Amino acid sequence: MDKLVIQGQSPLHGELEISGAKNAALPILIASLLTEDTLSLTHVPHLQDVNTAKSLLKYMGVDIQVENDKTELTAKEITNKNAPYERVKTMRASILVLGPLLARFGEARVSLPGGCAIGSRPVDIHIKGLQAMGAKIDIHNGYIEASTKHLLKSKLQGCKFYMDIVTVTGTENLMMAASLAEGVTILENAAKEPEVVDLGQCLNKMGAKIKGLGTDVITIEGVDSLHKANHDVIFDRIEAGTYLAAVAMTGGDVILKNVQHKYLDAITLKLIETGVKIESHENSIRIKSDGKLKAVSLRTAPYPAFPTDMQAQMMALNTIAEGVSEVTETIFENRFMHVQELIRMGAQIDIRGNTAIIRGKEYLEGASVMATDLRASASLVIASLAARGQTTIERIYHLDRGYEKLEDKFNQLGANIKRIH
Ligand code: UD1
Repeated sequence: MDKLVIQGQSPLHGELEISGAKNAALPILIASLLTEDTLSLTHVPHLQDVNTAKSLLKYMGVDIQVENDKTELTAKEITNKNAPYERVKTMRASILVLGPLLARFGEARVSLPGGCAIGSRPVDIHIKGLQAMGAKIDIHNGYIEASTKHLLKSKLQGCKFYMDIVTVTGTENLMMAASLAEGVTILENAAKEPEVVDLGQCLNKMGAKIKGLGTDVITIEGVDSLHKANHDVIFDRIEAGTYLAAVAMTGGDVILKNVQHKYLDAITLKLIETGVKIESHENSIRIKSDGKLKAVSLRTAPYPAFPTDMQAQMMALNTIAEGVSEVTETIFENRFMHVQELIRMGAQIDIRGNTAIIRGKEYLEGASVMATDLRASASLVIASLAARGQTTIERIYHLDRGYEKLEDKFNQLGANIKRIH
């Protein structure tokens, strides 16, 4: 298994291109199932999760061509309308095939995702929403078996559905399903994340009629079919946030390109509180830091509040900031697995329920640590970049799921990261 060996305390300088967003690319790749025409995408990041999504789609019969930065998907003949456990267990977002398959073909069989390192993460809202649209859903042997064959023209029926919890992939699954339903669907308490909006905009280019994107009430007027479209995937605000947090910690001066700063507000406002300087331009953002930071408290919540996917990285930052901070996680119940590893590097952190209390220290020390999930791994990388001495991070396959060329990008800025095979 690969590991990373990181020599700490090199300030970061230079320019970096931010990749397309993992959490937008995944649902958009899967949206190709909604039409027999070709969906043509740019800025699809090269990530393990993207490979997992592509291999699931290929298994179903989708033709996928990749040339330079263009990915073309054509779902003309779908031979397998099922997503087996072996494929779903490695990536929860595979559940997103449920809505499109059911809406276009009237049947789908998708494995339940099961447990996950950061919490139980059920999919009950995805299921309840499709049932509200008339689908017959049974759970057998760990599989969701869904059908619309009993409905008029075998089509899902538009409805009003209130989501008990704000769910990102739940909103996306139902939005895709409703695009090909009979009549109008209104999703209340919908997710407002920029990645949900990006998917909605791509669906509209494919001929869907979706209104209210970016608000908590999304209205979808069903259409008979969708057609070909071109779409450029939105930038990855979590990747951008991770580099910003890293520069804040190590000190330095870095420009991130291919970003829209308005989607980074929750992150940049917190970083400004720590004392760093941020300049926002039309398609880029610049951060300058002398590495002397003030601790900041935060609480994760759905967009536009502070993203749970940046919680671990900001916790790493607080370990070397002056003062005491509180980081509260409200989205996932078990998302503090980075804490024990940061403590191995000398951090002072106490956990009380879903809040971590961090007492900032002057510096962390290199150690051997273990990556446990995607964002926890990112927090260990940026902690190591700022730490004194050498850190070895094991189980880094988590990082490859969600960060494109992580060590190349950091090394381009002056870091010293080596991958050992
Ligand atoms: C997505 C993101 C993930 C991010 C998360 C929260 C993708 C591919 N992944 O995950 O990176 O951390 O949003 O911003 O976009 N829940 C239920 N029932 C459901 C669905 C969700 O109880 O049917 C709960 C979850 O357990 C969790 C909360 O709702 O506590 C939010 O989860 P959700 O927004 O669905 O996360 P994902 O879409 O899986």
